[in-house]
Amino acid sequence: MGDKNHLLYVVTIHAILALLHFIVSDAVETLARAGGRQERWQLLRNNTGVVTMHMALTHENTVIIFDQTEAGPSQYRLHQRYNGRRCSTRSRADLKDGACYAHSVEYYIHGNNLRPLRFVSDPWCSSGSFLSNGTLLQVGGHGRGSQRIRYFRPCRDHLCNCSNRRGHCRVIDGMLRIYYCLNMIELLLLVEGMLIVTNLYLNYIPRTDLLIFLFCMTLMTRMVAETTSTLSFIFLLMVTSSSSPTVTPSFFNYQRNRVVKTFPRIPGGGFRNYPSSGSLVILPLDHQDRFQKVEVMVCGGATSGAYEAAARGRFLPALSSCGRMVITGNNHIWKMENMPRPRTMHDMLILPTGHILIINGARRGCAGWQNAATPLLRPYLYNPKKSRGQRFTVLKATRIARMYHSSALLLPDGRVLVAGGNPYNTYTFSNVAYPTELRLQAFVPDYMDRQFNDLRPGNVTVEYEGHSSGVAYGTAFTIHFWLGRRPSKDVEYSVYAPPFTTHSISMNQRLLKLRCRHTTRDGGGLMSAVLEAPSSPNVAPPGYYLLTVVNNGIPSLSQWVRFIPA
Ligand SMILES: *[C@@H]1O[C@H](CO)[C@@H](O)[C@H](O)[C@H]1NC(C)=O
Ligand SMILES: *[C@@H]1O[C@H](CO)[C@@H](O)[C@H](O)[C@H]1NC(C)=O
Ligand SMILES: *[C@@H]1O[C@H](CO)[C@@H](O)[C@H](O)[C@H]1NC(C)=O
Ligand SMILES: *[C@@H]1O[C@H](CO)[C@@H](O)[C@H](O)[C@H]1NC(C)=O
Repeated sequence: MGDKNHLLYVVTIHAILALLHFIVSDAVETLARAGGRQERWQLLRNNTGVVTMHMALTHENTVIIFDQTEAGPSQYRLHQRYNGRRCSTRSRADLKDGACYAHSVEYYIHGNNLRPLRFVSDPWCSSGSFLSNGTLLQVGGHGRGSQRIRYFRPCRDHLCNCSNRRGHCRVIDGMLRIYYCLNMIELLLLVEGMLIVTNLYLNYIPRTDLLIFLFCMTLMTRMVAETTSTLSFIFLLMVTSSSSPTVTPSFFNYQRNRVVKTFPRIPGGGFRNYPSSGSLVILPLDHQDRFQKVEVMVCGGATSGAYEAAARGRFLPALSSCGRMVITGNNHIWKMENMPRPRTMHDMLILPTGHILIINGARRGCAGWQNAATPLLRPYLYNPKKSRGQRFTVLKATRIARMYHSSALLLPDGRVLVAGGNPYNTYTFSNVAYPTELRLQAFVPDYMDRQFNDLRPGNVTVEYEGHSSGVAYGTAFTIHFWLGRRPSKDVEYSVYAPPFTTHSISMNQRLLKLRCRHTTRDGGGLMSAVLEAPSSPNVAPPGYYLLTVVNNGIPSLSQWVRFIPA
């Protein structure tokens, strides 16, 4: 064979192999679908007005959504600017003025409606977390916004008025004492990691000394991320020295100011952190080991060189591998397995059942403007308790691509809110492969199906002692719920910390399975269960959690419960 013929031959064989692979892997997905599951997709709104780059669920059952403020006109026009000056629909300048548009909204789950929120400075690519009183702390952003720390105090529908006369609710904007705070997307992830091993209360974050410390950590993390892009993942990460060219995932004890231990790097090549954008969760924590076993799971990401290739218009296949590692104890080994497909820019959420939902994202490329292709429309469900090879189920496809700057969030009613997507720096709707996406959806897992309603615990209420505003650590507390039939042997009680979600990372997300001391049931089906609160804030930082009763795999609607120091 001549060289040319040989080349043709090789190319043809490759094309056939690729086609075969495609057919076989599609068959695998179809097989995995068998079994009559009833999950659904709902279109909630055609237009949220702003891109859902960041979102967070408040304990008043609203969702805070925000984009960058510098994207120019959004699809949510305001009648006036925040300084009160009118926005004319006749003036061309006003039509193009970003100040005549909202860049953040608050979404009311029950009413399925929105109101605009005001951001004074740009929160693009920022981090956030809830304080113990339910106030959202949101830090950093872009430009002037990178030096900002912001609070948002959620309030019940129509019960509170916005702080601004004109009815635009304002996110309270404060100034960080320290300068040079770049984008602080990693900030709370570090806190998260430290929370596992140290004694840090989220309340302490605003303290300047800690901020400076965290800031330094963040800066180091970023510098290394940008120069070598080798961070296996961030929330366990500590850079042993800022000049070190390599990064080892480690635990850092901020009180003793030193690294406590280091972990092996995750195998599988490629990279996991932004812009490779794998995702990660802490698998459910369990009272049975007194919450002492902490296991993390990292899935997907981008292959080495994906960012550079995307700049040349080539979108390399993402990573399909997932790694699980127990980070407590002394035996740290990554256990690897593969998702049904390669995936990047996905979100990983812990469902009330303790299963992990992998949703959104793409099959090729990485994060960044127009850096990815081939959206993955099917979520995966991962059951950590099953044996390897049996853990993934491929779920029903949506029709809406969720690419860069999309996000997902668990709602108190067990659905998953899915929103956003914008691979462009402005709102772009035509002549592009993946236009700005403003449709708001809910993914409704099969456990919500009506056929399970007779198993579903109803009307969950939490009893607080006396005038207390919460449940103290390590104490017993009582909940009530209704169950028309005898409970199955397998009733679980879980509490879930609502995350702040952006860029494939659900900061501070965790689920704890609580111990039940005993239950009673009256003739009418009213159940009472005495549960044990987590033993300390090291296990569950103080604040609001979603409490769910799961009967034989079917969850109740969740109720908020607040854990407070005694
Ligand atoms: C979205 O728009 C489509 C087409 O105009 C319409 O049929 C549908 O009812 C709308 N859905 C919602 C939730 O507004
Ligand atoms: C919650 O705590 C923060 C920080 O201490 C404070 O600024 C805010 O006003 C508090 N919110 C409420 C509702 O008490
Ligand atoms: C909110 O504003 C309305 C109308 O301005 C007023 O009647 C109501 O009392 C206010 N509510 C609160 C809680 O301040
Ligand atoms: C449960 O709550 C619903 C409203 O959410 C109410 O209609 C129903 O009567 C309650 N059931 C019981 C047994 O309390």
